[in-house]
Amino acid sequence: MAEVRLERAGEIAIIEIDNPPVNALSHAVRAALASRIDEAMTDDAVKAVVITCAGRTFVAGADINELGKPRSPPLTVDIAAQLDDCAKPVVAAIHGTALGGGLELALACHWRVAAPDARLGLPEVKLGIIPGGGGTQRLPRAIGAKPALDLIVSGDTIGAQAALEAGLVDALATRDDLRATAVALARRIVAEKRPPKRLRDRAVPPVPAELFTRARSDAARRYRGFEAPLKAVDAVAASMTCFDDGLKREQAIFAELLRGPQFGTLRHVFFAEREAAKISDLPTDLPPREIAQAAIVGAGTMGGGIALCFADAGIPVTLIDSDRAALERGLAALRRNFESSARRRNLPAAELDKRLGLIKPSLRLADAASADLVVEAVFEDLPLKQSIFGKLDEIAKPGAILATNTSYQDVNLIAAATKRPADVLGLHFFSPAHVMRLVEVVRASATAPAVLAASLALVRKLRKLPVVVGAAPGFVGNRMLFERAREADRLLRDGALPRDVDQAMVEFGFPMGPFAATDLAGLDISWRMRKARGISFPVADALCEAGRFGQKTGKGYYRYDGGSRDGMADDETERIVASVRERLGVTSRPVAAGVIVERLIYPMVNQAARLLESGVALRPGDIDLIWINGYGFPAWRGGPMFYADQVGLANVRDRLAHLARELGEKALAPAPLIERRVKEGRGFYS
Ligand code: 3HC
Ligand code: NAI
Repeated sequence: MAEVRLERAGEIAIIEIDNPPVNALSHAVRAALASRIDEAMTDDAVKAVVITCAGRTFVAGADINELGKPRSPPLTVDIAAQLDDCAKPVVAAIHGTALGGGLELALACHWRVAAPDARLGLPEVKLGIIPGGGGTQRLPRAIGAKPALDLIVSGDTIGAQAALEAGLVDALATRDDLRATAVALARRIVAEKRPPKRLRDRAVPPVPAELFTRARSDAARRYRGFEAPLKAVDAVAASMTCFDDGLKREQAIFAELLRGPQFGTLRHVFFAEREAAKISDLPTDLPPREIAQAAIVGAGTMGGGIALCFADAGIPVTLIDSDRAALERGLAALRRNFESSARRRNLPAAELDKRLGLIKPSLRLADAASADLVVEAVFEDLPLKQSIFGKLDEIAKPGAILATNTSYQDVNLIAAATKRPADVLGLHFFSPAHVMRLVEVVRASATAPAVLAASLALVRKLRKLPVVVGAAPGFVGNRMLFERAREADRLLRDGALPRDVDQAMVEFGFPMGPFAATDLAGLDISWRMRKARGISFPVADALCEAGRFGQKTGKGYYRYDGGSRDGMADDETERIVASVRERLGVTSRPVAAGVIVERLIYPMVNQAARLLESGVALRPGDIDLIWINGYGFPAWRGGPMFYADQVGLANVRDRLAHLARELGEKALAPAPLIERRVKEGRGFYS
């Protein structure tokens, strides 16, 4: 139950917000807080106030469950105004995460003290809105327009030390004496008779107008498709005028975005992430298993990237490869990636060296003996993987988790190569592993609950998003990708050009079209897999037969002259496509962009419905997360399942049925789950 308590420490009133789990500013909390502030102001014995929170964090923002519903006062912006009007000094004592409305509350206090591990930020743009409690006006007044823009437009957080240096907080305490430090500061302010320091009364230091022009073009490029970051620039730009006018502008934008479609969509993504962490048959009281040391087998593209993630999270890792040259290449690439990621994050050189020092290269599988977790990332070859797991069974210590990074192989068959299948699962990282947030956690039939739980905790420790999937070919993401690739191939056969298809998908919101992406990854990888399974994608196969493997061979769907990464349309591709068309007796015809989108997205949704029905995917939200975080599906469209509901599942069903007939493709016939849901008048989420 939410509570806001008022205690006294002599002449200082301590107002404590207690609304587990994250002290969100629900209506009940806001109302109680407003009353407590009034109480403190009207009590003559109180000379100053400290606002603090119980539990693990300071206020982490507005209550997202209530956002978007009719709002009743006092709103956060009203409480901020109330604090501005307080004649007695108010100090915020911040621990954990002061986010969104939480930071806005702190900004309206007159002084701020933070625990050293606190993090502060205004992440509203990630929910498709902007701060609506005066944050866009007070933050620039606290730290200047440029740093405020950086924080508000990205939604990133900063640590307490950086906040101190920026002028966002006035002092740091240790966690244990946070309250005491805040009370002591309040006492000093009273003793020195210092008047409340109100951000409202400050002007934002002037900046050139180009700052906002540049911020708009940067935001339009970096957050293409998202509305909130651009609107956030407008709101911060308005802070350069007087406070009241700027606040009015913020409130108008905030209200407009709350009514808009992206808020509902991104709130869905937020809750899908929280939901993905819940696995219903996993006991919650499993004793935690510490992963103090890891080993990676295979120092190639993936192994090196995965080793980097472990070292970055402070976990010592042995990177093993059987080939000395490959190991050296892998280490060199890893170092380059680590250095550039450290530069981006302003990581000091000493810290980079410390983390690099956690990686121990080795040519002997036996060096995996002391690892609590081994991740295998050797070539995509089942007998090779089985033989490595057979050896790991002999080498690894009892209780070690044995994971494979396979993209397509059957994790059950890999587990069967050991006498401890309960300890085996898949950890499917995405490329580049140190950048991509998604890890599909593949639960095989014998995987023990404790192994799954420990792996989920580990992936979170690597600051990635784990999504549990079943051990079926291609799991969830790649299985759906296969459907898209098949249809993309057929679009070329039918008359679309690679650039038409890519452009339609980029306009839909993907960072890259399917053909540009395949050229980057290499056509040969999926060609090999198709051959092994006796599957043909006529155009892709013909391009591979002509030695066009993508960027690495200078030509694939596009031509890459002189090592360029920008593909150009290539006549040879068109000739190859024309000959495939002729061989198959297909007449070329133009395909409209809208049809391209339908033909690429709906078959994926259809396949996803089958994966849901068979239990390979647990929830539609998991599928949305996989495609947003692993394949660049635009988050502001909510993922493929959410998108299908927006379009109307009945429409998706009708188009699939039509395509199945028109293209003579049985796999496109609407999945039974879709038929059932449509018959019941439901979508995936209703
Ligand atoms: N409102 C309601 N519930 C919230 C919430 C919020 N703002 N933030 C977190 N929760 C809930 C989660 O749904 C979850 O509930 P569950 O256990 O029932 O699934 C629980 O709190 C714990 O959350 P996490 O699992 O995410 O816990 P973590 O410790 O991993 O992370 C956190 C904590 C960093 C606070 C993270 O939850 C987070 O980033 N929350 C959202 C913060 C945010 O976006 N704030 C801005 C809100 S908009 C706003 O403030 C508008 C204002 O300008 C007026
Ligand atoms: P890669 O070819 O870049 O690297 C494989 C490495 O394994 C090589 O360095 C090789 O020397 C080493 N190796 C081979 N046999 C070995 C053995 N017996 N002992 C130790 N090392 C051995 O391959 P990549 O791309 O890193 O893929 C690795 C795995 O990750 C594959 O299963 C692949 O399907 C999967 N994967 C690949 C992705 C990608 O985009 N490249 C994405 C996700 C998963």
